[in-house]
Amino acid sequence: MKLGIIGAGSLGTALGAHYAADGHAIMFGGGASAQDAATRLRVSVGSNAEAAAYGDVVILAVPFGAIDAAVADAGPLRGRVLWSCVNALRPDFTGLAIGFDNSAAEEVARRAPGARVVAALPPFAHAIAMGRLCYERDLEPTVFICGDDIAAKRIVESLVRELGAQAVDAGPLKAARLVEPAMMLTVSIAYAGVPRDVGLRLLERQGLSSVGTRQADHPPASP
Ligand SMILES: NC(=O)c1ccc[n+]([C@@H]2O[C@H](COP(=O)([O-])OP(=O)(O)OC[C@H]3O[C@@H](n4cnc5c(N)ncnc54)[C@H](OP(=O)(O)O)[C@@H]3O)[C@@H](O)[C@H]2O)c1
Repeated sequence: MKLGIIGAGSLGTALGAHYAADGHAIMFGGGASAQDAATRLRVSVGSNAEAAAYGDVVILAVPFGAIDAAVADAGPLRGRVLWSCVNALRPDFTGLAIGFDNSAAEEVARRAPGARVVAALPPFAHAIAMGRLCYERDLEPTVFICGDDIAAKRIVESLVRELGAQAVDAGPLKAARLVEPAMMLTVSIAYAGVPRDVGLRLLERQGLSSVGTRQADHPPASP
């Protein structure tokens, strides 16, 4: 698959390295950091618009404060699968800039009319960069997938599984309102005080329902 990655910081670079090693074709979009990452990983680089046009999936991995510029520079995204990795973190990581009745994912969607936006916050970049997600008892961390386009969600789900994570369909895009604070909790636990290497895992009692393959006609409750 061709992946256009906008934002080549900790997360974008970790995803690019992982997916390049898996045989996907990568183009980073952005400035000097994108150029550096592309040189290091021996993949392509271009403007945000070039990376967006290149990818079967466009991965947005920029800080919340950068979504205006990043999405505007990506050009028209109508009909494109846009994987938002953005959490609405405040610049100083002390909390979320928005929440409860809004989400970073919905803000991204507002800036990209007609895009098939899927919100899925990956595990921490350093864990992805290790090549294998390795937590207690070999449990994979959960990545919650939110979106209104079922086919687009299935595509992102498969990319999430390639990271070695458990993909759980969390419902429509606005369910990101619930997911983003949950992932903020992991940031808070990981970086408040002694750094800790943590992930989040959804546990489900067997035999009652199936995780990760919910049907469109049985969506989880909307927030
Ligand atoms: N890091 C993680 O473990 C992790 C996990 C899950 C989700 N996330 C989310 O992923 C996003 C990125 O996090 P990060 O830790 O990778 O941040 P980061 O290390 O600060 O990197 C951000 C990247 O975005 C680039 N950027 C900024 N404005 C841009 C624009 N207009 N066009 C293209 N690129 C632009 C920056 O480029 P310059 O340096 O050239 O400005 C930089 O390469 C955040 O929303 C975060 O909440 C991160």
